[in-house]
Amino acid sequence: MNVQEVRAVWTSDKGSMAKQTAETRWAKIIQGIIDDIGETAAAEDVDCQRRAESIAIQIALKDIKKGIEQNKPLTRLPDDGKLDIQEWNKQLAAIGECSWTNCPWLFGECYMYRCIQRILNSSKYWQNYDVFKRQKDSTFVKSRAAVEELASRYIQIVADTQLAQNESKEEAKKLLFIEMTEIALWGNATDLSLLANLTLEDLQNLQGREAIQKSQRNIVDNDTDDVWAYLQRTVGQASRQIDVVLDNAGFEFFTDVLYAAYLLEAGIATSIRLHTKEFPWFVSDVIPSDVESLFEHLESSECFPGRKCLDQLIPRLRKLFQSGVITTTSDPFWTTPFSFHEMPSKAPALLKELQNSYLVIFKGDLNYRKLTRDGLWPHTTTYETALGPLGRESGVRILALRTNKSDVCVGVPTQSKVDALNEEAPGGAWVRNGKYAVVSFNEGR
Ligand code: F6P
Ligand code: MG
Repeated sequence: MNVQEVRAVWTSDKGSMAKQTAETRWAKIIQGIIDDIGETAAAEDVDCQRRAESIAIQIALKDIKKGIEQNKPLTRLPDDGKLDIQEWNKQLAAIGECSWTNCPWLFGECYMYRCIQRILNSSKYWQNYDVFKRQKDSTFVKSRAAVEELASRYIQIVADTQLAQNESKEEAKKLLFIEMTEIALWGNATDLSLLANLTLEDLQNLQGREAIQKSQRNIVDNDTDDVWAYLQRTVGQASRQIDVVLDNAGFEFFTDVLYAAYLLEAGIATSIRLHTKEFPWFVSDVIPSDVESLFEHLESSECFPGRKCLDQLIPRLRKLFQSGVITTTSDPFWTTPFSFHEMPSKAPALLKELQNSYLVIFKGDLNYRKLTRDGLWPHTTTYETALGPLGRESGVRILALRTNKSDVCVGVPTQSKVDALNEEAPGGAWVRNGKYAVVSFNEGR
């Protein structure tokens, strides 16, 4: 199918997740920000000028909220001194007349976060304020049990990997890779209940393989074997930098850092580059300050009282950052409304960097929507086709780890599988409810 023929989902599309999100969730997100700013401004130690400015910010936010609730047209963004504003307005003009509940979902949702940031950018005292920090922190602390359990599991996995490596146990090495990949995958759903907890012995017998297969039944497009084959084929390559385009802070980011550390310890990668967003984005996405915040939380025995494994683990993770084996970077392209089909024209330098990367891992739902242009593809469309210019002959090796939380999902092997999924999770639930996922890989050849 031709890339151009596939329509992107609009917030007016009946029965879509797009429509439901625009009609019910956006206004609530803005209200959450208004409340958060109110709470911050009310604190005793807040400077009175900063407090006074918070009122104007709250009024501006209420205006956006009203616009959403009353389905007002999307209008040009006024200048806030940042270079990207022109691009947003050009894109809006290209779409033509549209309103909050009648616009391309991808554009409308990104535009909402840019509108919020514009208000903060135009302020004097709130420019670097993270409107989602409070929410990100409190959610992370609630995942206490999973964090502590994962810390202990990770230490075991790394020890097993070393053992499997020394004894050349290829099948065990692969199963450990699958387990770590799935931890990073289901971290996107903040639901690790589908994972098995296996010993090296389990991994070597049928029971281990069966447990892993069970956890994989909800992965509707699963290219793990292909990724593993690629990694095995290229293991002799001198520089093996893996890029991870991150999604959410807190628990998911913790799983991503563990995955990065594992890829290094297992000798799969020689360095890792983590891509964060430049400003608060889609509520929970990682921004630069969330990196230190992760460590601060992990080091706090108030947040995580079960210290046994964490105290062993954190210095190892910190060292990877301090020595520069793991680095972080932000590119302005990640906070534009463009799908990744536009990368060749809108961010050619970034594309070049990704072409030079050994493997680029895109985490999460929004990245997947951007990879596939938020297109309403038949679900059996190949991942390579849906990637458009980032697919065949792109020179980018792309792995998407995403739990399904929107309207798009491609790469399902057969129509009969789609039919079975529709029966098992009717009304498109398997594309939306976060209980199903994809591990989609394309070599860009
Ligand atoms: O639940 C819908 C949604 O808000 C989508 O708009 C967006 O794609 C997704 O959640 C964000 O999920 P993730 O953090 O996995 O990118
Ligand atoms: Mg996100």
